[in-house]
Amino acid sequence: MELLDKITELKTKILEEINNAKSSQELKNVTDTFLSKKSAFNGLMSNIKDLVGDAKIAFGQAMNKARNELNEALKAKQESLREEEIAKKLASESIDITLPASNEQMGGINPFHLITDEIIDIFVSMGYEVKEGPDVETDYFNFERMNIPSNHPAREMQDSFYITNTTLLRTHTSPAQAHVMDEKKGQPVKIICPGKCYRRDDDDVTHSHQFGQVEGLVVDKNISLANLKATLELFLRRMFGEKREVRFRGSYFPFTEPSVEVDISCMNCHGKGCPTCKGTGYIEILGAGMVHPHVLEMSGYDPKEYSGFAFGVGIERVAMLRYGIDDIRRIYQGDTRFLKQFNRK
Ligand code: PHE
Repeated sequence: MELLDKITELKTKILEEINNAKSSQELKNVTDTFLSKKSAFNGLMSNIKDLVGDAKIAFGQAMNKARNELNEALKAKQESLREEEIAKKLASESIDITLPASNEQMGGINPFHLITDEIIDIFVSMGYEVKEGPDVETDYFNFERMNIPSNHPAREMQDSFYITNTTLLRTHTSPAQAHVMDEKKGQPVKIICPGKCYRRDDDDVTHSHQFGQVEGLVVDKNISLANLKATLELFLRRMFGEKREVRFRGSYFPFTEPSVEVDISCMNCHGKGCPTCKGTGYIEILGAGMVHPHVLEMSGYDPKEYSGFAFGVGIERVAMLRYGIDDIRRIYQGDTRFLKQFNRK
């Protein structure tokens, strides 16, 4: 029958066009032409009104079969084109990870860590053990065990970040002293504890809400202020050079008695007085003292038999003085222009 041949003819032509489509867009053009009401293929349908009986049925079936075939061919082609296009896109966007980076930048070691490691080296060479304490402390260890009961005015100087009523970010590394003494159970102690501390300070050129300290603690029989003095002088001369004068001033900490603050002669003016040392010729570098008998007692050491000394060094302060850093915030900003200037010797 002529009409059926026409269907086959047109179908073959459209199939060819489908197969020849080179892109989704081209295929869409074919689809639009094929699906549109006015398309040549759908136009064939108008012939049905002139047909009757078996001829009508045969024509309808042939049209449906052809339409299904075309739809399937379209779907298959759509799928294969999509895959092709994805593969092309992937190939064009592929990255050769074996190529060297175009802008390879080396930073340096943050002076905070350089100084921490140097402090550790100096004390390890004197036979100290390195310990760590938790950053989140209990009120009990941060204050009570350091002889700072809840009504003590010294608490005010260490305005704090509380987590609950009884836990806080430690305001100094000193609570590590109590942890270590608990652990040593009455045996001699000779430790340093480097770590971070937190105080609700306003940040400025010399203050940060987070800073590093290295705590030191020696407990044994016959430990005296002379041992403390000799140890800290040795440490400070190694850190800042043999020519540094070291000065001890009487001070107050609730957990040491007597307490001292230790200054070194100003590296800028060598003791004459200049803006760096605010005209005094000296710069304060650490706090220290003989462990308070009550602190020893609370930690299970008999103060009649045992004595000890403790100190706390601010890590950033040492770094700033050693390297002439004018603003503490530079240490935290991660600016590679700053960091590049530092490296291990
Ligand atoms: N914990 C004191 C502070 O943070 C420093 C210190 C440590 C003083 C040990 C004496 C002994 O200021």
